[in-house]
Amino acid sequence: AIKTILGRQVWDSRGRPTVEVEITLESGATGRAIAPSGASTGSREALDKRDGGKRLGGYGVNGALAAVNGEIQGRLKGLDALDQAAADRAMIELDGTPQKTRLGGNAIVATSSAIAWAAAAEQRIPLWQHLRRLSNLDPEAQHIPAPMIQIFGGGRHAGNRIDIQDFLILAVGAQSFVEATEQIAEVYMAASKAMVQSGKLNGVADEGGVWPDFTANEDGLELLTRAIETAGLRPGVDIGIALDVAATSFYADGAYRLALDGKALSTLEMIELLQSWVAAYPIVSLEDPLAEDDDEGFAEITRRLGKSIQIVGDDYLTSSESRVALAAAQGCCNSVLLKSNQCGTLTELIAASTRARAVGWNTIQSGRSGESEDVTLSHLAVGLMSDQIKVGSMTRSERTAKWNEVIRIEGYYVAPRYWRFTIPPL
Ligand code: PGA
Ligand code: ZN
Repeated sequence: AIKTILGRQVWDSRGRPTVEVEITLESGATGRAIAPSGASTGSREALDKRDGGKRLGGYGVNGALAAVNGEIQGRLKGLDALDQAAADRAMIELDGTPQKTRLGGNAIVATSSAIAWAAAAEQRIPLWQHLRRLSNLDPEAQHIPAPMIQIFGGGRHAGNRIDIQDFLILAVGAQSFVEATEQIAEVYMAASKAMVQSGKLNGVADEGGVWPDFTANEDGLELLTRAIETAGLRPGVDIGIALDVAATSFYADGAYRLALDGKALSTLEMIELLQSWVAAYPIVSLEDPLAEDDDEGFAEITRRLGKSIQIVGDDYLTSSESRVALAAAQGCCNSVLLKSNQCGTLTELIAASTRARAVGWNTIQSGRSGESEDVTLSHLAVGLMSDQIKVGSMTRSERTAKWNEVIRIEGYYVAPRYWRFTIPPL
């Protein structure tokens, strides 16, 4: 049973304060987790509780910490940490708001994750195995997800210099996670070198990717394809490109405004532009290709491209079980991005993941642009048997912490089975 819950302020990868929760059980087992934080957030997400005002740019988390140490501890004390659903339900009811604004999404997600770590410690099993039990999946299956890794960063993560938020790659032909990260590192090195040589390097974006000084969004696709070749790999065979368009961030007044290309596009024109890119480059996945309220656009792009590539909903689905069910019924998307702090508790995340798997979708476990050394994400990706794991680039320790944890898990397995790239049948 839960004995104490301690909230403390720690720092995230953007140098902002965030919530860490440490839980101790009567048995002496402990668990600890740190809340991540997004920048390109969907309007239906659970929201962080921030203090506002002048201190720390308004990003203070004293209110969220007070909720952890006060109300949340008061309500959860004595509950069985192995009963994740009961603890999460108690927090949802205690909070009582649709977007977890009263206690704070950051307070709740850190507590929810810390409970799972403590429960795993009490059972003396790895967290991923505990998560298999919680989600009714085979604890013995030696499933390993594929890393989806950012090479170029743009959008809100790089001063909006380019409109497309993430240019990422997937090792579609690799046989293991270790091999996949090695291939991706070769591409990252080739891409950085090409940027330095062409004088287009602007620095490093929020998630560790190269921050490019492009003159058109399509330059990213061109350069990335060339970097794959320079690395001695075959575009589309060994390595596929994935874009997180994050289209909500440049949709305004009924138009998709690609500032870098000097274009304002209708939904259909936006779809046609993306279609032309898919035809010209080895793209295997498009995330948030349209804005979060563009239901008809999502249906249309899924009709046109959903047989050959992943159409992924992030801001569009906000890791919500009911939104996944609705989208599947309407033929919108064939894959879902899952972010624990988007729905707020592990129980809700597991529900969304289970629903997506039940309708035959691919699932991608994702971190946020604001991250830390916390590796809950890696265990979620292995534990919920996700197809892919996405947490930015090959640099910066808050990113590599996640890749390295999956490498460890793969190493413990006797016969790891690396993800096979398949497109969900429509
Ligand atoms: P965010 O971006 O964490 O800033 O929301 C990640 C994503 O859009 O996938
Ligand atoms: Zn996204």
